[in-house]
Amino acid sequence: MTWPALPTEPPERSAAAPEPRLTLTQWLAHGPFLAQLVVTRRCNLSCGYCNEYDRDSPPVPLAALEARLRKLRQLRTWVVCLTGGEPTLHPQLVEIVARMRELGFRRRQLITNGYRLTPELIEALNAAGLTDLQISVDGVRPSATTVKVLEPLRDKLVELSRRGRFQVVVSGVVGSAPPGEALQVVRFAREHGLTPRVILLHDGAGRLKLSPEELGVYREVQRLLGRAGREARDYRDRLIRDGRAPFRCRAGARYLYVDELGKVRWCSQARALFERDLLSYSLADLREQFHTAKPCNPGCTVGCVRTASAYDAWRA
Ligand SMILES: C[S@@+](CC[C@H](N)C(=O)[O-])C[C@H]1O[C@@H](n2cnc3c(N)ncnc32)[C@H](O)[C@@H]1O
Ligand code: SF4
Ligand code: SF4
Repeated sequence: MTWPALPTEPPERSAAAPEPRLTLTQWLAHGPFLAQLVVTRRCNLSCGYCNEYDRDSPPVPLAALEARLRKLRQLRTWVVCLTGGEPTLHPQLVEIVARMRELGFRRRQLITNGYRLTPELIEALNAAGLTDLQISVDGVRPSATTVKVLEPLRDKLVELSRRGRFQVVVSGVVGSAPPGEALQVVRFAREHGLTPRVILLHDGAGRLKLSPEELGVYREVQRLLGRAGREARDYRDRLIRDGRAPFRCRAGARYLYVDELGKVRWCSQARALFERDLLSYSLADLREQFHTAKPCNPGCTVGCVRTASAYDAWRA
């Protein structure tokens, strides 16, 4: 897939007088808790289950990313997570993280497939102030679907556990590798002081896609994880049991997915359903999207949005 050319300069609007920050009260009512920021759509891998990458997009220019980060601060965004594609392909990744700290984001996160992690990069991310890293490890041996597995990544994980001064979450997609391998990944992560987590495989429309055997493994992993494995009011158990787990999705308000063109989308799985420029995003947009019912919500598997929405579950 070819994407439109990326802007080389931040749009003119960023040169204008800075907009006032949201007040604390405005943020508490409708403001973003988490923003995922795509720093490049390109990826060095091609996982069989993924619809979030291409082979040829250029990295988003640092100046454009800075403008987006400043805007996210103006909206009082609490946590920013760098994603892609594969964010370690961005040549200025460390500078982006350092800028996130200068701008005052409380948590500065990165999701990576880990292939390009080196001791030097881990140390540089320490120095830049990364607070959380999520590395995706789906199973043990490479397959046609995924090579994000323990065999090629074991040494990287050991380096992370030795050197990383940030929290490391090892996250596997259950359903993407032979079922028993997910359990081995959880055990490996635990033995090395890393935090295991599982994601359930979804199809191209974001719906759950698991065989009965894979569901059995998921249950076993959840048993091993105990309370730590429970997310957003156990929506996954409800999805498995009832085929639906409706919720009030606050994407576009509590959660912002900012794509490589600087557009806010509802999330990675509903990219086609909503699009608005981040740099002109306003309190009115936050309010509107907070109250917009998302048609895809009953079968939604996007855990981070469910978590970001849980705080307001009681609100109409
Ligand atoms: C799109 S990737 C971007 C970051 C990085 N390339 C990586 O793989 O970690 C973000 C997360 O989405 C997950 N993901 C991608 N496609 C998925 C699918 N169909 N079902 C469940 N999780 C998926 C990946 O495993 C990864 O944890
Ligand atoms: S899941 Fe991550 S590593 Fe795999 S193709 Fe998608 S963006 Fe690349
Ligand atoms: S319900 Fe919300 S998070 Fe889930 S797919 Fe739809 S827009 Fe995305």
